[in-house]
Amino acid sequence: MTWPGRVSLNRWSTLKLKMEIATIAEVLRDKIRSLSARVGIVGLGYVGLPLAVEFAKAGFRVTGIDLQESKIASLRRGESYIQDVAESELRPLVESGKLTATSDFSVVADLDTINICVPTPLRKTKDPDMSFVVSACQEIARHMTPGKLIILESTTYPGTTDELLLPMLEAGGLKVGQDFFLCFSPERVDPGNPKYQTANIPKVVGGITPACTEMGTLFYSQALERVVPVSSTSVAEMVKLLENTFRMINIGLVNELALMCDRMGINVWEVIDAAATKPFGFMPFYPGPGLGGHCIPIDPFYLSWKSKQAGIEARFIELAGYINGQMPHFVLDKIQSALNDRSKPLRGSHVHILGVAYKRDIDDVRESPALDIIHLLRRRGANVTYSDPFVPSIRLDDSTLASQDAEAFVGSCDCVVIVTDHASFDYAAVVENAPLIVDTRNALKGFESDKIVRL
Ligand SMILES: NC(=O)c1ccc[n+]([C@@H]2O[C@H](COP(=O)([O-])OP(=O)(O)OC[C@H]3O[C@@H](n4cnc5c(N)ncnc54)[C@H](O)[C@@H]3O)[C@@H](O)[C@H]2O)c1
Repeated sequence: MTWPGRVSLNRWSTLKLKMEIATIAEVLRDKIRSLSARVGIVGLGYVGLPLAVEFAKAGFRVTGIDLQESKIASLRRGESYIQDVAESELRPLVESGKLTATSDFSVVADLDTINICVPTPLRKTKDPDMSFVVSACQEIARHMTPGKLIILESTTYPGTTDELLLPMLEAGGLKVGQDFFLCFSPERVDPGNPKYQTANIPKVVGGITPACTEMGTLFYSQALERVVPVSSTSVAEMVKLLENTFRMINIGLVNELALMCDRMGINVWEVIDAAATKPFGFMPFYPGPGLGGHCIPIDPFYLSWKSKQAGIEARFIELAGYINGQMPHFVLDKIQSALNDRSKPLRGSHVHILGVAYKRDIDDVRESPALDIIHLLRRRGANVTYSDPFVPSIRLDDSTLASQDAEAFVGSCDCVVIVTDHASFDYAAVVENAPLIVDTRNALKGFESDKIVRL
């Protein structure tokens, strides 16, 4: 055999390979464009369910996969368990078969696209807990077939998609960018935000290869208003961490300012409101009883963990984490001295908390500072009750507390503490009836009374 013959054989196989790649990509592109791609969403929580609804509304057939049987059962009945997902929107999608749910990962084999939206909490040591992502990805890898687009949406440290997911998905012999496509796209949903929801929040997406980014961009553009492609999965992962670290550090700054203002007898809320009149170069952040939710108190530690491995201490994050972590203790001290000023000891006093969700008008208590404050108050011997129209009960270490009727308790307790400024609380009635109020959110802005102690 002559050398030129071998060259032409190689050329032929390269060409054939290129055609196969083009075919796999082209088939998936066509399915996405024609909305015939079978969409899968793994993890049907605050992030996954709204996303599943958005793709089903766009016309795709969507299968949600979750391990929690109660969620699967609710969805099959067309019932929403996420505040931001209206039942009137969900039910027709379920009834028309556009949205189905299962706990059986074998459906993965028939899916064309899969978004992973499982939790990424911290371990007690503040290290990333990747067990949910790993277990979901292992299940996907077990049922992997060529021609799929896989997108991780769970917030995580830079490098996760590349270093952790890619080896699992390629273990069966398929090649990324050729046989399947892999991206990271941070979820930016803000529960309870009436203006910005899944469909109109710009979606950042970065792929392992340019073909992956292109596929991810095409996919999201079918259902969401704006897609922002970036050059790699690590950039996309870092975008989310920058956004949440920015918030966490700025909140740490105003919390520290609140501590300073408290010592100096200055109203920190007035300071921030006046500073916010500057039309450029300033963005207001507000102090509060501490950080809450599944994002801001957690995500920055994913970054500090990873940056430590790269030899850089994330000092801003550690400092802001420390200051924010002190806020529930500061609130406790405020309550104690407010009671003491009225010759009442904290021990044995009845403290009624208004709002236990981590922010206004939502039902999520994950990492809520209210839980810390209640715990600290009980440890110092106070009797604690609470009212929250969104949270019927909370689980504490050794017991369950049920929400009480605010009207009945505000007047009969020794001190009301506003921890979450839900819009539906009757603040005028609180000022009128409560003997003493510690307001950690400036919910009583505009009210003047000796009973009010502000953060
Ligand atoms: N909640 C938010 O506001 C928000 C905003 C932006 C980003 N995020 C990120 O999105 C991710 C998901 O957060 P969330 O708030 O939706 O969490 P969530 O707890 O509300 O939902 C996660 C769901 O995943 C399911 N699950 C866990 N392991 C699974 C597995 N192996 N297979 C299938 N399902 C599994 C759980 O049962 C749960 O229903 C996290 O990384 C979070 O940091 C959350």
